[in-house]
Amino acid sequence: LTFVGSEEPLVLGIVDEFEKAGLKIFGPNKAAAQLEGSKSFAKSILKEAKVPTAAFSIVQSLSEARRALVKHDFPVVFKLDGLAAGKGVSIISSCQQAEDYIVDLYKNNSNTKLLIEEFMQGPEFSLFSLVGKNNTVVHTPIAQDHKRRFDGDKGPNTGGMGAYSPVAQISSVVVEKVIKSIIEPTLKVMQDKGNPFIGVLYTGLMLTKNGPKVVEFNVRFGDPEAQVVLPQLNGDFYQMIIDLLNGRRPLTEWQKKEIYLAVVIAAPGYPNDVKKGFSTPTLSDIPLDLQIDYAAVKKDGHNLISDGGRVATIVGHAKKIQLAQKNIYSYLDRSKLQLAYRHDIAYQLANFEMKD
Ligand code: AMP
Ligand code: GLY
Repeated sequence: LTFVGSEEPLVLGIVDEFEKAGLKIFGPNKAAAQLEGSKSFAKSILKEAKVPTAAFSIVQSLSEARRALVKHDFPVVFKLDGLAAGKGVSIISSCQQAEDYIVDLYKNNSNTKLLIEEFMQGPEFSLFSLVGKNNTVVHTPIAQDHKRRFDGDKGPNTGGMGAYSPVAQISSVVVEKVIKSIIEPTLKVMQDKGNPFIGVLYTGLMLTKNGPKVVEFNVRFGDPEAQVVLPQLNGDFYQMIIDLLNGRRPLTEWQKKEIYLAVVIAAPGYPNDVKKGFSTPTLSDIPLDLQIDYAAVKKDGHNLISDGGRVATIVGHAKKIQLAQKNIYSYLDRSKLQLAYRHDIAYQLANFEMKD
């Protein structure tokens, strides 16, 4: 069984090729992967499914962009249409900034597709839906990512600096509403178009004052969300995927007693200036109650050194978020790494529990 982890091969059509060759693979085909590969495609599906999402315009020239901007308030969000590894989104706070952006984008007569979107506010969370054949779907516990590089959600957007799951402050009523009014209608429209979605549908959501709205779709697990969601499965992941591919509803249970917390360790200059070669913890450096998931490392004799921006994720779990934070941060702080990390992952849940 091939389980595809990242978006690029999916968008390029790896599933179509494997299926042609009679090989078992779990993921969306090229057409369905457009939900992540093209933001304008995703928006058109959302519109057809009548799913709540930010109001938007899609433009392809300087004059269209200027005309569309008249209809939007500031701040406004600009998104480039294709895959951009988290770098395609800009929050534009003024008319002048918008004008500078679009003039720069459309110089040289390019006809790049630009999505202009209403700026939404509220806590963000993600839901992963494992979608199989015959309308079989398994929803995982929800997770919350931390996209900004620095503590207090400051600094540039990254691929994700830490995550936790479940997210107690988002109620099960909200999650039910997301499933009924967002996920199910989206899957139905994909099916009605003759283009059923199979694979992991990652729905990025914002709980606005008008209810949950879609920020984006991805067609794979999130990083570092997968690191906190997958260990919560009580059962066999392989069997679950095989059941889904065979159109059988898997018997799936997720743990409910603990909070899973993940803290990413990254090159100090990430995401702008990635230097490699920093000493990285080995498996035997990690305390028994924690786990390390590697992303970009290489061997240096008996040691490990970093080989990219996000280097590894440290994962812990405990009944209370404060304890999970203490376990990870007391290890990281005493390990005196030169690699960087955020010190406040899951602050939202910790604050919520204090108020409770
Ligand atoms: P995306 O690549 O679409 O996930 O966007 C990256 C991040 O930009 C999201 O996780 C949000 O924090 C932010 N973002 C994207 N779209 C909006 C929006 N319409 N309003 C406010 N923030 C947004
Ligand atoms: N952590 C966000 C993503 O994987 O896209």
